Amino acid sequence: MLAIIGGTGLTQLTNLKITHRQVMRTPYGEPSGPVTFGTINQHEVMFLARHGYGHTIPPHEVNYRANLWALRDQGAKRIIAATSVGGIRADLIPGTLVVPDQIIDYTYGRDFTYFDGKDRPVTHIDFTRPYNEQMRQQILAAVNRAGEACVDGGVHAVTQGPRLETAAEVNRLERDGADMVGMTGMPEASLAKELGLAYATIAVVVNSAAGRGDSRDRVPLETIGVVMSPAMERVRNILEHAVEQDGD
Ligand code: HPA
Repeated sequence: MLAIIGGTGLTQLTNLKITHRQVMRTPYGEPSGPVTFGTINQHEVMFLARHGYGHTIPPHEVNYRANLWALRDQGAKRIIAATSVGGIRADLIPGTLVVPDQIIDYTYGRDFTYFDGKDRPVTHIDFTRPYNEQMRQQILAAVNRAGEACVDGGVHAVTQGPRLETAAEVNRLERDGADMVGMTGMPEASLAKELGLAYATIAVVVNSAAGRGDSRDRVPLETIGVVMSPAMERVRNILEHAVEQDGD
């Protein structure tokens, strides 16, 4: 089944006909909230709000391990994660949708692996292509069918937050090759990979990154909501098409 992880601005899928909610416990603690099950145009899907349904869990306190474990436990095989980002590359202006194809991880102090514990053999995963290409293509096809536009590919930097970056930090991210910056893409993507889940992201640019565009002197936090609401409406529409195209 397909699971959708909703980020900031997407704590609910209004087009989801809810059948039930499942409160979960995992070996890693509790997920951000109950897993919501339902259908979109008769296609089954499950949904989890990354920051909790009341949007109370900051990026560095999300229990990513419990979230992904819970979704897999309930039968998810594929995951589309929605996330908001700041645009670093000049063309990634607020309101742009991006399906990134690479990640650089700047987070720290998060519970980032299932492969810890002294009694286990050392386990490495390949993370050359952090996102599942089939899922990326599924999102891109859904974007087309929804009559929307998005940028195909881009490097997603993930910072620790919850503060935004300094202008110098954004310059460094750009020198590193990053096109956009968010706070929740990791360890979500690598944990999904560790669990063998096919995972990809649709990112919504909600502001120009610090020091860029109209964030030259400060990031105008008050306008983020104004950009986010219509953009997330477009994401909901895209997700509806993605669910319809989904396999089993
Ligand atoms: N930086 C980091 N995370 C973000 C941003 C940003 O500018 N905008 C939305 N999430």
